[in-house]
Amino acid sequence: MASYLEILDDDQGHELSLFCVPKHYEEDLDSVIIPNGLIKDRTERLARDIVRDMGGHHIVALCVLKGGYKFFADLMDYIKALNQNSDKSVPLTVDFIRLKSYSNDQSTNCVKVIGGDELSALSGKVSFVFIDIVETGRTMETLLALLNECNPKMVKVASLLVKRTPRSSGYRPDYIGFEVPDKFLVGYALDYNEYFRDLSHICILSDRAKEKYRV
Ligand code: IMP
Ligand code: MG
Repeated sequence: MASYLEILDDDQGHELSLFCVPKHYEEDLDSVIIPNGLIKDRTERLARDIVRDMGGHHIVALCVLKGGYKFFADLMDYIKALNQNSDKSVPLTVDFIRLKSYSNDQSTNCVKVIGGDELSALSGKVSFVFIDIVETGRTMETLLALLNECNPKMVKVASLLVKRTPRSSGYRPDYIGFEVPDKFLVGYALDYNEYFRDLSHICILSDRAKEKYRV
């Protein structure tokens, strides 16, 4: 079972005015639930765990766009730092895939793959998927089914966040940064209808903002 940092349901987060938040989002957020520094500290430890477990394997690191790009970029930097400063190192190649399953704050039943390279290149390789958040688990289950059709040697998954929700299918990634309450979170590349990716901290979206940015 993957270990994770648990953000409790009654955690109200930190007051917005204590952090630097873009002016254009000040009215849209309830609070800062995971400050950028804490995300980075936890990501650094995930990198160490991954290098420890994957040492010796060549891995194809697969970033799930767009929400996973910050987590992916920071994690790759930490893995690179470990690779160049220790006896054990993990050879890496990177790839990107784009999925879409969300409209407003609702996961839709249809998970669409709307980009990425030939997945068949993963045949016989160890692929490591990096995703922003697992909610129902449907996005990851769909992607895993697609990847497994390509006969990879092994597939591992790291998710920065896992939401505690009754809508979960029960799917759990191999590596988890934080387990979070059942609220809609934005920032650090997580979006609401494409907004809020340009926010450093992970924040709780206000109900008013859900209306304001609804499509
Ligand atoms: P799932 O298929 O229900 O597990 O949803 C996973 C995908 O939904 C993620 O990759 C995100 O793009 C999106 N998602 C789920 N919850 C949130 C959230 O709280 N904020 C932003 N995006 C979310
Ligand atoms: Mg999204």
